[in-house]
Amino acid sequence: MSSYVRKKTPGDTEWFVHDRFGMFIHFGLYALPARHEWIKTREFISEEKYQKYFEHFNPDLLDAREWAKKAKAAGMKYAVLTAKHHEGFCLFDSQYTDYKSTNTPCGRDLVREYTDAFRAEGLKVGYYYSLIDWHHPDFTIDKIHPRRNDADAEEQDRGRDMRKYAQYMRDQVTELLTNYGKIDILWTDFSYPAMENAPAWMKCRGGKGKDEWESEKLIATIRALQPDIILNDRAQIPQDLVTPEQERDPSNYTLRDEETGEYYTWESCQTFSGSWGYFRDEQTWKTPPMLIRLLVKTVANGGNLIMNVGPTARGFFDDRANAALDVYADWMKYNSRSIYGCTMAEPEFKVPDGAYLTQSEDGKRLYIHLMDFPFHRISIEGLSTDQIDYAQFLYDGSEAFYETKTYTTAAGKALPPKTTFQVPAMAFEKLNVVIEVLLK
Ligand code: GLC
Repeated sequence: MSSYVRKKTPGDTEWFVHDRFGMFIHFGLYALPARHEWIKTREFISEEKYQKYFEHFNPDLLDAREWAKKAKAAGMKYAVLTAKHHEGFCLFDSQYTDYKSTNTPCGRDLVREYTDAFRAEGLKVGYYYSLIDWHHPDFTIDKIHPRRNDADAEEQDRGRDMRKYAQYMRDQVTELLTNYGKIDILWTDFSYPAMENAPAWMKCRGGKGKDEWESEKLIATIRALQPDIILNDRAQIPQDLVTPEQERDPSNYTLRDEETGEYYTWESCQTFSGSWGYFRDEQTWKTPPMLIRLLVKTVANGGNLIMNVGPTARGFFDDRANAALDVYADWMKYNSRSIYGCTMAEPEFKVPDGAYLTQSEDGKRLYIHLMDFPFHRISIEGLSTDQIDYAQFLYDGSEAFYETKTYTTAAGKALPPKTTFQVPAMAFEKLNVVIEVLLK
């Protein structure tokens, strides 16, 4: 058994830490301007001007079954769709707003289509629900709101009432958690600190957090409807999930309870390119080795990875997104055993240079991920050949040869013995070679 103890939380995270890999989907009106999901605030776009995207929202090529099939083929086991993002537009038929997909030329409840399609493929279903709302008339103007620099911002802010908005959120979350069956994850987003030099009229000095969201009530509403649901930490009250964003280095986050040393359940969220929403002209797409490294490294650090796709305005995944998903599909076909049900390797196994280690939760399988070629051999300190039953390359099942080796310093002093594996001189045609070590 893995010796790492995970902190217990109210939601059911057992399936989650087993499954390890999910798909984030950011879809909304911002797919039309196609230059980042924050465009409304980045470019200070007025309500009137943003309205054209509502009027032309028509993802006629959106087939959620196609999305689900691609997620499944990539080895992803769950998904999270933006039911509402910061722009406030809802992809579901909410009775509390007119600002929803069913009132656009699209005319469809996309949350329902997504939910049915992903469930049909056997994937777990999650919703992202933005705490921020740049459309709702009661959402006060703060440091990231599109209207913050308007000459009459103070006037526009007058009469806005966050208590009404908090009630709106509870009502909508109630709809999402009542009308679509069992929902596995709810991803709220996000809280932000006050400004140092906020204008005097700006409430809460331009920041928002658990008091404004009324997070306690919000969470109580959610738990009453779906007790097992996995909740993240972004409503400013720790729940089931810690969510490092675009981070390779989890040490920038607190991933353990400082008092008990127990590990939090965490999920790194990442994009294929530099945006969550579809960004047509963005060029910073991750390369295949980067994609594989992200997944392996995350699991080797004991976390989950959720990779994001931003569908085009017509609702399909573009070629670049499909190519990235294919990289995962091809790699996971051969190597998923080193991901599902795996976590950090036991601390006595020392990670050699150029490799990552994962280990099955039951402790019986150790995976050596060779991230760097060429290699002639690779050695694991802390692993003795007596512990090994058999070793093979995961890609083709060919036997991996190993022996105990004792290395010496230049002065001839013996170093602790290591298990040394022989490695092919070249990587297979497939990315990232994995050695599967079956332990006794
Ligand atoms: C951020 C962004 C947002 C994205 C999210 C995903 O908080 O505001 O656009 O949805 O992260 O983690």
